[in-house]
Amino acid sequence: NEGALWGGRFASGPADALAALSKSTQFDFRLARYDIAGSRAHARVLHRTGLLDDAELAGMLSALDRLEEDVLSGAFGPAASDEDVHGALERGLLERAGEELGGKLRAGRSRNDQIATMGRMFLRDHARVVAAQVTAVIDALITQAEAHPEAPMPGRTHLQHAQPVLLSHHLLAHAWAFARDLQRLMDWDARAAVSPYGSGALAGSSLGLDPQRVAEELGFAEATWNSIDGTAARDVYAEFAWVAAMVGVDLSRISEEVIFWATKEASFVTLDDAFSTGSSIMPQKKNPDVAELARGKSGRLIGDLTGLLGTLKGLPLAYNRDLQEDKEPLFDAVDTLELLLPAVSGMIGTLEFHTERMAELAPRGFALATDIAEWLVRQGVPFRVAHELAGEAVRAAEARDVELWDLTDEELTGISEHLTPAVRTVLSTFGSLNSRSSRGGTAPQAVAEQLAELKRQLEPI
Ligand code: ARG
Repeated sequence: NEGALWGGRFASGPADALAALSKSTQFDFRLARYDIAGSRAHARVLHRTGLLDDAELAGMLSALDRLEEDVLSGAFGPAASDEDVHGALERGLLERAGEELGGKLRAGRSRNDQIATMGRMFLRDHARVVAAQVTAVIDALITQAEAHPEAPMPGRTHLQHAQPVLLSHHLLAHAWAFARDLQRLMDWDARAAVSPYGSGALAGSSLGLDPQRVAEELGFAEATWNSIDGTAARDVYAEFAWVAAMVGVDLSRISEEVIFWATKEASFVTLDDAFSTGSSIMPQKKNPDVAELARGKSGRLIGDLTGLLGTLKGLPLAYNRDLQEDKEPLFDAVDTLELLLPAVSGMIGTLEFHTERMAELAPRGFALATDIAEWLVRQGVPFRVAHELAGEAVRAAEARDVELWDLTDEELTGISEHLTPAVRTVLSTFGSLNSRSSRGGTAPQAVAEQLAELKRQLEPI
């Protein structure tokens, strides 16, 4: 069985159906670079223990270098007979270093500790790419917020007009969510920075290897303290998948808003031509496909997480072959995000906001009723009463099909003697906005402070 990593105890080779089922090179060969890096580190610790002499180490490292070159150039790839990335690379090593020397590298390691380590290396690299792309989304939001520092829009709850807010405040609300996603990726890395290499199949190695050295060479902070945990744990993968799904959900939420904002009915934004699509039959169409694909692909990211958790549930310690199923959902999550994030940051960065229309609608739908109630409270009226009186003002305006500010002085005092014409100071969009000036509020000054704080928090990231 050419290139197989096992076989001695078997009288016959694997059935075709088993070989086909077992094979993972079609997806795990993308980990080849990491497996070769692990092999280099492993060769060095074998050398330190005396299991490779100086010449053997040099020969091994040069063969690994040539193998890596050939992998990167595409000259070397998995063969039909290779079961997985480890088998393929061992075949490649034997071809380059010779059977005698190449055959020494597998001492003291197992595919179980190799694959657990490769997965972490892969995810840590891609977490950095994803973090940079999430940062670009945040930057796009901040740039738009800074371009519209004092543009009002209808703030909504239940999708109904609630209170006026600043567009910048609304955009930054999304930015905070992405900033937390970014922090999650950073926090996650601390737990992912532990190397399982040296755990062997499950029980560690008898060859006097130094897992800490390998860990450091591969960019990890430390080696695992428990070889069973090292080979069997996948919670760190699942945590990454959760963060990926959360990023997806956050992308989906802003996308849903963009889709709504771009409707004729809302007319809050125009999508840039470069980030919208046409229809094959309706010549006038300009569709928000980026946002829709973000909404759609978030479902896929959630599926990657739940699929992985489903695989892990019920697995006894230590390694089980089920764990081979951990890779595809993670690759899919990484590929999906890396495809999606640049498109979404591009879409957000190029949105053209129709600020006049948004400002015109901001106070409508009786969105200043709370301002009347809170103004009354400042005049000493108990809130319960103030709420009732503001509600009566809404009823009066609704009956006449006008807005609150259209009520006459007589109509207002008719509702209550407390509702003097002075209430009109808050019956405007900016009267309302400016009054919400405490920390976290939507007043222009509070939003400016918020933006400075967000930038301060993002600085170390
Ligand atoms: N291809 C395997 C995986 O992805 C590598 C580990 C195989 N270990 C084993 N004992 N069969 O999990």
